[in-house]
Amino acid sequence: MEIIIQPDAAEASRVAARIVARLVGDKPHAVLGFATGNTPLQLYRELVRLRREEELDFSGVTTFNLDEYVGIAPAHPSSFHSYMWAHLFSHINVPKQRIHIPDGLTADIPATCRHYEQAIRSAGGIDIQILGIGTNGHIGFNEPTSSLSSRTRIKTLTEESRKHTAAGFGGTGGVPTHVITMGLGTIIDSRMCLLLAFGKKKARAVARAIEGPVTAMVPGSVLQMHPRTVAVLDREAASELEMADYYTWVYDHKPDWQRY
Ligand code: F6R
Repeated sequence: MEIIIQPDAAEASRVAARIVARLVGDKPHAVLGFATGNTPLQLYRELVRLRREEELDFSGVTTFNLDEYVGIAPAHPSSFHSYMWAHLFSHINVPKQRIHIPDGLTADIPATCRHYEQAIRSAGGIDIQILGIGTNGHIGFNEPTSSLSSRTRIKTLTEESRKHTAAGFGGTGGVPTHVITMGLGTIIDSRMCLLLAFGKKKARAVARAIEGPVTAMVPGSVLQMHPRTVAVLDREAASELEMADYYTWVYDHKPDWQRY
């Protein structure tokens, strides 16, 4: 895994945006996997800026989001649909018909999940999957003990995850109990994974995912099995990494052609 440690979330998000922008520049029909939550907000802001100021062209891309709440309509202000339109899709030129987010209102969850997997395959697979990480080590909403080879399916949120999004639902009691999420197997089928983590409260999960044993108890640790994961962290999120100095040295000594 390549680990890039930046002074703060703003710098880290700019590195991440350059990685995404380069892919979209090199491969106009790229398939982009998106996450929601606080972590990628600055990355999305930077992509919007690149669209506005440098005409980064998203007209050929296809997108797949990691997850959506079960029982929540797309128009709900705290749905992941609303989040994506508010922070990214309304501001870039991605064609609406090539945007995919799991349907939280489906009457047939297993069929919806199968079709989601099929749609990813038909699009040629995901070129880059953006990921945040939960304090319990989840990626997507693959909570601890998720199968490392799981595919898109329904998952039950942990209390910790429900508390994290309580504000958007008028308290933890209002947060949906279930989500549809890409599985860990789905995520690591992506050609590249771009993990972002910022802030002290992510430090333990980051250290366990990157340097700990590969275990379903820390779902993000499955990324150790992925041939091309780049983790872009701020200093606080990297603060419990044993090899942090080495990662910084490696990044500082990258050959020019490998720089982002
Ligand atoms: C959301 C998702 C989650 C979040 C994680 C971190 O689509 O996939 O795994 O990335 O819960 O959330 P934040 O970024 O809010 O700390």
